[in-house]
Amino acid sequence: MKISIRNAEESNIEGILLVEHDSFHKDIAESRSVFFDRIKVFPEGFLLMEIDGEIAGYISSEMWEYSENIDTDRFRLNHNIADIHRTDGSELYISSIGVIKKYRGKGYGKMLFSELVERIGSSYRIASIILIVSENWNAARKIYENNGFLEIQRINGFFEDDENSDAIVMRKYL
Ligand SMILES: CC(C)(COP(=O)(O)OP(=O)(O)OC[C@H]1O[C@@H](n2cnc3c(N)ncnc32)[C@H](O)[C@@H]1OP(=O)(O)O)[C@@H](O)C(=O)NCCC(=O)NCCS
Repeated sequence: MKISIRNAEESNIEGILLVEHDSFHKDIAESRSVFFDRIKVFPEGFLLMEIDGEIAGYISSEMWEYSENIDTDRFRLNHNIADIHRTDGSELYISSIGVIKKYRGKGYGKMLFSELVERIGSSYRIASIILIVSENWNAARKIYENNGFLEIQRINGFFEDDENSDAIVMRKYL
């Protein structure tokens, strides 16, 4: 089995959307144009995992100007990265991560997450990392908790999925 992690390219959109639709409820899956803009604006912050040539997972991110109290509108699904991304920002925002179902539970999500943090940490001056996760996404929560992220805020009913689940905002200072 050949596993590799590399930056996403615009030609990978179809594979990324397959991961997205395998990973998220249809009402909260993000759009083609959102992914396209993420790749165009910050390709270094968008990694793909390929297993034997198949796109098995992705992780995407943005650089934000740090603000201790975050305006929750920044987390809005399908927001345009270009509106918020600042190359000289000191906070990395992980906008999404997904691994297709058949490859889950084998450590690949963890691997993608660590690889992004390591790559961005060595090429940009980031002081913190922020993200949101649904209270119901246990594997994702495990990755963040294991990496030392702490809950800083809850947004009730944020996700418009079947359970209308709460979002947990988590942050880690480096
Ligand atoms: C979140 C996701 C990317 C994780 O990828 P993965 O390859 O399945 O995760 P890993 O195998 O690396 O496991 C990560 C941790 O979660 C744990 N875990 C895995 N599946 C789990 C589950 N169903 N419930 C609870 N914990 C779980 C693992 O044991 C591991 O913890 P450990 O290191 O303490 O053993 C993947 O599950 C996914 O795509 N989920 C749907 C989309 C999603 O929730 N995205 C998160 C957006 S914030």
